[in-house]
Amino acid sequence: MVDFILEYLPIIIVAAIIGAFTVAFLLAYAALRRHKEASDDQERMFSDKEIVTRLLRYARPYWKDFVGVFFIMLFSIVFELVSPALIGDIQKLIKEPFQLKDLYIRVVTYAVILVVSLICTYLQAMVLQKTGQKILSQIRLDVFTHIESLSHEQLNNIPVGKLVTRVTNDPNRISFLFTNILVTLVKNAMVVVGVLAAMLVMNYALTLMVLCFVPFVVLFTMIFRKFSRRVHRQVTNATTDINTYLSENLSGMKITQIFNREDSKLSDFTRRSAKLRKAKHNRMYVFGVFRPMVYMLFVSSQMCLFYFGAKGYIQQTEFLGQVIDSAIVVAFYMYISRFFNPIQTLAEQFDMLQQSFAGAEKIFGILDIVPGVVDEPDAMELEGIRGEIEFKDVWFQYKPDEWVLQGVSFHVQPKQTVAFVGSTGSGKTTILSLICRNYDIQKGQILIDGIDIKRIKISSLRRHFGQMLQDVFLFSGDIRSNIVLHKDDVTDEEVMQACRYVNADTFINKLENGLDEVVRERGNNFSAGQRQLLSFARTILHKPSVMILDEATANIDTETEILIQDSLEKMKNIGTMLIVAHRLSTIQHADNIIVLSHGKILEQGSHQELLHARGRYYDLYTLQFQKEQLGKGE
Ligand SMILES: Nc1ncnc2c1ncn2[C@@H]1O[C@H](COP(=O)(O)OP(=O)(O)OP(=O)(O)O)[C@@H](O)[C@H]1O
Ligand SMILES: [Mg+2]
Repeated sequence: MVDFILEYLPIIIVAAIIGAFTVAFLLAYAALRRHKEASDDQERMFSDKEIVTRLLRYARPYWKDFVGVFFIMLFSIVFELVSPALIGDIQKLIKEPFQLKDLYIRVVTYAVILVVSLICTYLQAMVLQKTGQKILSQIRLDVFTHIESLSHEQLNNIPVGKLVTRVTNDPNRISFLFTNILVTLVKNAMVVVGVLAAMLVMNYALTLMVLCFVPFVVLFTMIFRKFSRRVHRQVTNATTDINTYLSENLSGMKITQIFNREDSKLSDFTRRSAKLRKAKHNRMYVFGVFRPMVYMLFVSSQMCLFYFGAKGYIQQTEFLGQVIDSAIVVAFYMYISRFFNPIQTLAEQFDMLQQSFAGAEKIFGILDIVPGVVDEPDAMELEGIRGEIEFKDVWFQYKPDEWVLQGVSFHVQPKQTVAFVGSTGSGKTTILSLICRNYDIQKGQILIDGIDIKRIKISSLRRHFGQMLQDVFLFSGDIRSNIVLHKDDVTDEEVMQACRYVNADTFINKLENGLDEVVRERGNNFSAGQRQLLSFARTILHKPSVMILDEATANIDTETEILIQDSLEKMKNIGTMLIVAHRLSTIQHADNIIVLSHGKILEQGSHQELLHARGRYYDLYTLQFQKEQLGKGE
């Protein structure tokens, strides 16, 4: 008994160590299961199969590239399989008297295989990267196009930071799938099978010994995957959280500074950042434990190999009925590492595969949002419109049971100018955005030239509208690009003509670079009045049949106000015009003035009619008039 123990002491020690680690792992795993957090239990929206099918649809156009890569890969696998046998052979050769020529042949063969394999690896990487990037840009494009098609309501509901992550980070995670994971997964699986076959052919007894370690590798890998999936999810969530927080707060930085909230914002940010750091630490620990574990199994198996191999070789005994020579020991030494390496990477890559799937899932989640406002199947194109607008008992709500518009009806004849007035929140902006179908109404009908707007193609509908919104949005670029907005074939003269028409030329001419003057993000290097004038020019250039102006309440100096007034007068000649005005002086000449309160029309008529009626408009007007008189008196 003692002899037996002494003889197999190394093996017993190895078995004891592996056993101890297995128990420790199982205990840790049990603890993890007990700790399962509710938030970690997010249901997957798609099955793996669904995700793979959809991803493959993106890869399909490039199937030739993938087939090519597959063949290149076969070459490098052959190298993996042949080289250990070759080295074993060389080792055997040089132990006895040998012909130098024989050695040369083997060494040269080895070198050739090595070079070919290197070239294969390079080619494979190049082709995959190229293809992967093409697929990636297609996915990004799809996501972006889809986001463009979402309705205002849907866009309001998704934080911008999240959308940014969907267009940037998530496709990146998928790209890894195409450029790396997919191919190495296949390759590694094939290498494992190949190595196993090669070992079996060479010496089944030693192969059986190596196989004894496999259950432990499988066990460790499974437990590792549970842990790693959890930490990956933590990292992803924390990253999205930080992105969302950043994109909102960077835009609002000025407000933060004005209200002196830097400290509290900083502590918010620090908290999020710490969460991300902790998640990344956790991930590091999980990987930090797993890699040495597999390495330990690898070393143990090599120890066993040396023990049995050397013993068998030196004592010339058989191991499980097979003779072992030195070439076999050398070849097995190499095969074992080629066996464990792919297993380890397989486990890790399986995890990255899951990550890519998670990324894909998020992307498909966005792609699957059915746009809230869509064309009806038989929607029609509108070539030109006269500009007649009718609201028939329109009811609308943003949120359930909060009616913002309640039975609004009015009629605008072509080329008329109609103004909307009313206190803040009365629904003026809402009415204007309903006409362009930014939202769909719940009850009633909106007609353009007598046609229900739901029966008109949205793109065709919006083409005839020029919207000048309450908060003018300028893109970073220059003045010209902001006026032209991707419209083709527009000459500088046409742009300047539009600017002159709306009196924007005065200030543009004063700028150092004229139309080339740089516009910074959101146009923050221009005044509110200037931005408004630019938005007029933008609208005029696109020659709309209906113009919609949501006047900014911002304080505009008297000079700019006169310019704006004057350009409005001119713009009335172009087509139908709907104006929301805060300064009643702007709209005195309107053909019809509609007074709103809490989403209902109180009264409507011309300026004179409404003054005579002595209703709400009269009150508003006298109030403003008095204020102006007071202002002048000062
Ligand atoms: N995207 C939205 N989601 C939910 N509610 C909204 C949304 N936009 C506006 N509302 C609500 O609808 C009501 C009408 O808003 P609207 O913007 O039409 O007012 P307004 O008359 O243009 O006001 P102002 O003169 O201040 O511009 C408000 O009570 C507002 O809270
Ligand atoms: Mg408004």
